[in-house]
Amino acid sequence: MTDTRALAAQALADIALHGKSLREAMEQRAPKLRDPRDRALLMALLSDGARWWLRFDAALDRLLEKPLRRKEPEVHALLVLGLVQLEILQLQDYAAVAATVEAARALNRPRLAGLVNAVLRRWQRERTDLLADLDAQPQTRYAMPPWLVNAITTDWPTHVDAVLADSNREPPLMLRANRRRVTRDALVEQLRANDYNAEPHPWLADGIVLPHSSDVTRMPGFTQGLFAVQDGAAQVAVDLADVRDGQRVLDACAAPGGKACHLLERADIALTAVEFDAARSTRIRQNLDRLGLQADVRVGDAGDPSGWWDGKPFDRILIDAPCSATGVLRRRPDVRLHRRASDIDALVAQQQHILGALWPLLAPGGRLVYVTCSLLRAENEAVIHHFLAHHSDAKSSALELPIGQPAATGWQILPGDGDLDGMYYAVLERS
Ligand SMILES: C[S@@+](CC[C@H](N)C(=O)[O-])C[C@H]1O[C@@H](n2cnc3c(N)ncnc32)[C@H](O)[C@@H]1O
Repeated sequence: MTDTRALAAQALADIALHGKSLREAMEQRAPKLRDPRDRALLMALLSDGARWWLRFDAALDRLLEKPLRRKEPEVHALLVLGLVQLEILQLQDYAAVAATVEAARALNRPRLAGLVNAVLRRWQRERTDLLADLDAQPQTRYAMPPWLVNAITTDWPTHVDAVLADSNREPPLMLRANRRRVTRDALVEQLRANDYNAEPHPWLADGIVLPHSSDVTRMPGFTQGLFAVQDGAAQVAVDLADVRDGQRVLDACAAPGGKACHLLERADIALTAVEFDAARSTRIRQNLDRLGLQADVRVGDAGDPSGWWDGKPFDRILIDAPCSATGVLRRRPDVRLHRRASDIDALVAQQQHILGALWPLLAPGGRLVYVTCSLLRAENEAVIHHFLAHHSDAKSSALELPIGQPAATGWQILPGDGDLDGMYYAVLERS
C-alpha cells in the first residue's frame, strides 16, 4: 500500500494506541513512499497527529456514537488525521476530506468510508462549538495528559499556559558551529550565500538559528563537519562545564554525543563518553568522526563505574541524566503519549543513583554539571537537594543565565524562553 494517509493512520495508531515511538513508526513506513514530498507529508501527519492526538481523540468522543478506538484503531487514527489536516495543517477542506475518505478504502475499510466522510463533514458544520468545548479544558486545549498538566501547574503555577502553548509550537532549527573547523560568522555567511535564513543566536557562542527544520544533510558544510544540529539549551550545558586544555572529562550519559562533541570542540581535553545503550553509542562514534573529534567511547552503566573507570579522577563530569523529556515536547511530540506519572519516581531513583555513583570520580576542586531536559522539580532541584544533604564535600554554584528562571537550586529554561528547549542545570563543586 502506498496511500500516504493510510500509512500515516497505521503508524499513528501504532504510536498513540500501541506505544511505538514516532521515530520507529516513521522508519517502518517511510521507505514505502518513493516521492520525498509524500515522505514529508507522512512526517507532518505523524508529528502533528501525535502532538494533537489528545485534542482530536477527545473530539471524536463527541462526534462518534460508538467509539472506534479499540475495534478499528486505524480508522480512528485516520479520523484524527482528518481533523489534523483541517485544523492544524490547514489543507484545503475538500482535498483533505476526499483524500481521507479515499484512505479508508486504501485501509481496506470501504464500508467505513461513508462514516469517515460523515464525521469530517459534521466537524466542519459544528467546529465552532466543538472547538470551544475542547478549549475549555487545558488537557484538550493543549493536547496534554492530565497528569502532566497537573505536574506543570504545581511546579510552574505562573507559567502554565506559556509552557503548554510553547510545548506545541514548531521549534526553530538550531545548529552549533564546530569551532575547530569554522568560525560561527563564516558559517552563517556560507549558509546565507546558499539562501538559508541563518542568524547567530544572540547569547550563545556557537549557536545558529534557522526558522524551520530542513534536511540538514543537504546543507553546505554538513559532510565536512562544520556544524551539528543541537538546540541552544543543550549548548548551554557545555558553557557551564567550563572545560580547559589538558583536563580529563567524563560525559556520563553521552549518546548521541551532542554535548560530548561540543566539549571536544571547546578545548583539548581527554574525554571519556559513557553510554548504556550499545546501539546508541555507535551514533556517538559517527558524530565524532564527522566532526573530526576523538574520545574514549565506552558502553557501560554510568551508575556502576567499576565496569569502565580506569581509577583516575576527572576534572569535569557532565551528567545529562535520563529524564522525563518534559522540556522537549515540542521536538518529541510522542513523549506525552507514552510517559506516565508513575515513571517519574523510577527516573528520580536513577538520577540519584548516577549522581551518587559518579561523585567520587570527581577530583577535589573539580566541577560536575547535572542537566536534564525535564521541567519537573522532582527530577531537578529535588535530586540536587537530596544529593547535597548527603555529601558535605559538595557545594552548588549560584547560576545566573541571561534567559530562564532561577530554580530553588540551579537554573531552569522553560520551553519558549528565548525559543529554546526546556532544560535544567545545576553546577556542583567538590571541595
Ligand atoms: C538525555 S540523553 C543524552 C544526550 C547526550 N548527552 C547528547 O547531548 O547528545 C541520555 C542518555 O543516557 C543514556 N543512559 C540512560 N541511563 C544510563 C546509564 N545508567 N548509564 C549510561 N547511559 C545511560 C540513554 O541511553 C541516553 O542515550
